Amino acid sequence: MKKVPPNRVRKIRTWLPVHNLAELVDNESIENSSPLLDLASNDYLGLSTHPNLIEAATKTMLEEGVGAGGSRLVTGSRPIHKELEESLGEWIGREHVLLFPSGFQANLAAVIALSDRETNVFADKLIHHSLLMGVIASRAKLHRYDHNNISDLEQKLKLSSSKQPNQKNLVITESLFSMEGTSPPLKQIISICERFGARLLIDEAHSIGVMGHEGKGLCYGITEVISIISGTFGKAFGSGGAFLASNKRMGNHLIQTSGAFRYTTALAPPLAAASLAALKLIQANPTWGKKLQETTMKWRDTLQKEKWRFPEGNGPIIPLILGSEEQALKQQEHLESHGLLTIAIRPPTVPEGSSRLRLVIRRDLPEEALQQLVNALNH
Ligand SMILES: Cc1ncc(COP(=O)(O)O)c(C=O)c1O
Repeated sequence: MKKVPPNRVRKIRTWLPVHNLAELVDNESIENSSPLLDLASNDYLGLSTHPNLIEAATKTMLEEGVGAGGSRLVTGSRPIHKELEESLGEWIGREHVLLFPSGFQANLAAVIALSDRETNVFADKLIHHSLLMGVIASRAKLHRYDHNNISDLEQKLKLSSSKQPNQKNLVITESLFSMEGTSPPLKQIISICERFGARLLIDEAHSIGVMGHEGKGLCYGITEVISIISGTFGKAFGSGGAFLASNKRMGNHLIQTSGAFRYTTALAPPLAAASLAALKLIQANPTWGKKLQETTMKWRDTLQKEKWRFPEGNGPIIPLILGSEEQALKQQEHLESHGLLTIAIRPPTVPEGSSRLRLVIRRDLPEEALQQLVNALNH
């Protein structure tokens, strides 16, 4: 196996079906495992180990400590929070950005802010668990439309609006689906929302930093109609924490009413500093996203020629659909024996019979990674 630099590899015990966390973090087995080329993490731009992020986080940690020590409205707010919120808002063209400690929390806050028991929520069948939990917490009525199926969404909205013309409507989707690598036709969704007077929430967790104009996300430029955009710093930004972007009115509403914002310890200042450093790097390298997309298309073309099955898309996520859980686990184990870290994604995370290896293409992968994968798959 060819040696790869340490920032591209992970030492991790991966191939057993893991039933408890203790198995995952068992130090002895990690020590004894050999380094694997990481084709699974969401560190799309390879920023989690970038010196600028490490330096920014370290400096802030030395000056301000590790944790914020309180919620934003009590003692937790720091100038770095404000700076990150303002810089990000300006970059993606939204009036207001509010930080959260995690994307899961941000999504809960967003759905709860946009719906209540008088709301019909129309959500793509494959939305992230956090969004679904938000709908349950808001007590809205949930209607799930087929994945990226705009006519199904339209029909469901039409039917419910004719039965309940006074009910509020909210549509929820993601701009790049994490387990599929697919994207919905956002412009069509927006025009349907306008037609039915529905609010719109879009999760940009996997696209912010890598997709759209200069990596500004797939909602960039069409943002006014979207009530809230959510994003996380845990993926392309290589850090941790998350945000909700909206207009000022919605931002103030979140500050005043969101329990997920008010009653939680503020995003750790070193993470905020690392996220700001990541933002500056992405701004200074506006072609990173485009180049990553070109690499991804090369991977897609090659894997398609090799007759592997995966949904259409152009983001850096390629899920090789294998079918049964056993097939996916076997392939994961096989690739591991060839020095590659991939993870079998199985039900209930994905529908029965569609277990898969979710490949993640990263900016810092070595040139020969694709050939290494193809050789291993064919072996
Ligand atoms: C689509 C999507 N939304 C939200 C989240 C949650 O983000 P975070 O990891 O910051 O909690 C994830 C992460 O798994 C995700 O894939």
